[in-house]
Amino acid sequence: MTQRKIIIDTDPGQDDAVALLLALASPDEIEVLGITAVAGNVSLAQNAINALKVVELSGRNDVPVMAGCPGPLRRRLETAEHVHGLTGLDGPDLPDPQKRLDPRHGVDFIVDTLMAEPSGTITLVTLGPLTNLAMALIKAPMIAARIKRIVMMGGAYFEVGNITPAAEFNIYVDPEAADVVLRAGIPVVMASLDITHKVLTTNARLDALRAIGNRAGAAVADMLGFSERFDLAKYGWRGAPLHDPCTIAYLLRPELFDGRLINVSIEVESELTRGMSVADFWQITDRPKNVFFLSKVDDSSFFALLTERLARLP
Ligand code: BDR
Ligand code: CA
Repeated sequence: MTQRKIIIDTDPGQDDAVALLLALASPDEIEVLGITAVAGNVSLAQNAINALKVVELSGRNDVPVMAGCPGPLRRRLETAEHVHGLTGLDGPDLPDPQKRLDPRHGVDFIVDTLMAEPSGTITLVTLGPLTNLAMALIKAPMIAARIKRIVMMGGAYFEVGNITPAAEFNIYVDPEAADVVLRAGIPVVMASLDITHKVLTTNARLDALRAIGNRAGAAVADMLGFSERFDLAKYGWRGAPLHDPCTIAYLLRPELFDGRLINVSIEVESELTRGMSVADFWQITDRPKNVFFLSKVDDSSFFALLTERLARLP
């Protein structure tokens, strides 16, 4: 398989961390050009530290980590310590990072990298609120035509919302940013709650990750053991949804997923439905088809892939 170049924009987050590890464990297929942190699950500063910790955990210290925007385009930042813990990455006891942040601003990194690399070769993977990518598009609109595609964890339609009855967290936190991104004419693959709610961390799957016997497997089992508590109590399911790694799994093994090319538009006016991702799943309108909306996944193969890849890490 030819290696795909990606930039990962993230607010780690236990599930973000697993997505980062899955990508960093797959250098034959995925070249991670850089990781940009954004405010979301916790503050920008803490998310940036968490990204550094995860890169060190992976042993891939060659990958630069940049800090991006400290808050949404127009809204007050709302965070999710109630899910992810005070550090955003509660669960494992990871050492303070020795690695330092790259001094470039995350938004500049996105713009400059897209301008420097051949057009149409870079995929943007977004795992948090879309503030950094929207800022990059506002600052340098010409990058839109240079992005190969965006693979995004965000949104929901049939599963509706997880932070409000109407909205998924990443879109809710910065709906104006999501609106900018989805209107930019860039092909988007959306891993919404409609897919991530089918990828559940059952006890047997967490046991298999711990049984790998390496540092990464133990850390991931500890992370997900922590973050699933909130979701298990909320949903009463046999496992918690594993959101962000769906993006990287899609890049590695697209045949594990199926979906539909549709329009998705974001509600930015209403307070009641702020950040709702209105998906025209039944093709009722003639709005432009801007999103490949994932709706089916082979979750057993997904966990087999994750377990196999994490076993490659220290
Ligand atoms: C998304 O919100 C965050 O809390 C998770 O990391 C994921 O990106 C799920 O709604
Ligand atoms: Ca996230």
